[in-house]
Amino acid sequence: MTGFERWSTAMRRALYGPEGFYRRELPGHHFATSAQTPAFATAIAALVDEVDERLGHPETFTVVDVGAGNGDLLFHLSELLDARAALVAVDLRPRPAHLPERIAWRQDPPERIEGLLIACELLDNVPCDVAVACDDGQPRYEEVNEQGETRVGDPIAEADANWLSEWWPIKAEGDRAEIGRPRDQIWRNLTDRLASGTALAIDYGHSKDRRPEGGTMTGFKDGRETPPIPDGTRDITAHVAVDSIGADRIEPQHEALKNLGLNATRPPLALAYRDPTAYAVALANASATARLTDRSGLGAQWWLRTDRGGRREIPSPPTD
Ligand SMILES: C[S@@+](CC[C@H](N)C(=O)[O-])C[C@H]1O[C@@H](n2cnc3c(N)ncnc32)[C@H](O)[C@@H]1O
Repeated sequence: MTGFERWSTAMRRALYGPEGFYRRELPGHHFATSAQTPAFATAIAALVDEVDERLGHPETFTVVDVGAGNGDLLFHLSELLDARAALVAVDLRPRPAHLPERIAWRQDPPERIEGLLIACELLDNVPCDVAVACDDGQPRYEEVNEQGETRVGDPIAEADANWLSEWWPIKAEGDRAEIGRPRDQIWRNLTDRLASGTALAIDYGHSKDRRPEGGTMTGFKDGRETPPIPDGTRDITAHVAVDSIGADRIEPQHEALKNLGLNATRPPLALAYRDPTAYAVALANASATARLTDRSGLGAQWWLRTDRGGRREIPSPPTD
């Protein structure tokens, strides 16, 4: 493939095609995510408790991780949650050999979910198109080739034009926008499967009052940011328009994790003398939490949360 194609086609091929990046590569070899850290799983276990309580402790509580990558989050959760929690990983990648049998691995999400559905850094990898405003003020699709060269393509289709005018209007010649409609659709498809419980997407993103000029399409390879060349050698990602997703609640990760009990305070030095192992563990947890809540890094990610049903019946007090 040497010709030009729309960004969504180029991303799909370069990330998920037969020679695609995610068919071969592990996310953790190229970039750091929250889900790779055990301390993050501690917070998600606290969220599971909260949702389980709200649902009135159903017989089975399912945790579904969509876009599970190497299965890190569910691996850590399998050490924290009791057997009542069913653990289901969903990813296009093959099942990693090291995962315990308890974790189911599938390519498609279950039809019906009662529990917690989580998607960490999934939406920013959902292929999307780029629009560019032309000299007549009208947006057209930007096209890209395997060398990363771009050119202006066809006029924007009606559904995408409607999305742009509602969520990311561009008018001045050369203005660019990433069309978030496929992310909205995937999230709607996932939350439609949630019979009761909570769906949580976690991603870097922006809202209408602060769209990044020129967009955010970026590559990642071997721990470095690179140009977004869709040649299959690197991750290609674009931040999420978090307000168009339709979540009930949006909050930054640094706040969400603190509310779930993560604490970056260093342990007292006295503990090092009394119990050096406990001190080392507490110090490692504090630095992991500091990384997860760093407002200029992972802590700036957005938690997009949708809650469904399951409000527990509160029994009336006895009359006598
Ligand atoms: C950036 S990685 C995130 C991995 C992991 N959640 C983490 O935070 O470390 C995105 C993952 O989503 C997977 N993915 C992308 N689109 C998907 C889809 N439609 N269904 C299932 N998995 C998908 C990719 O294969 C990749 O493993």
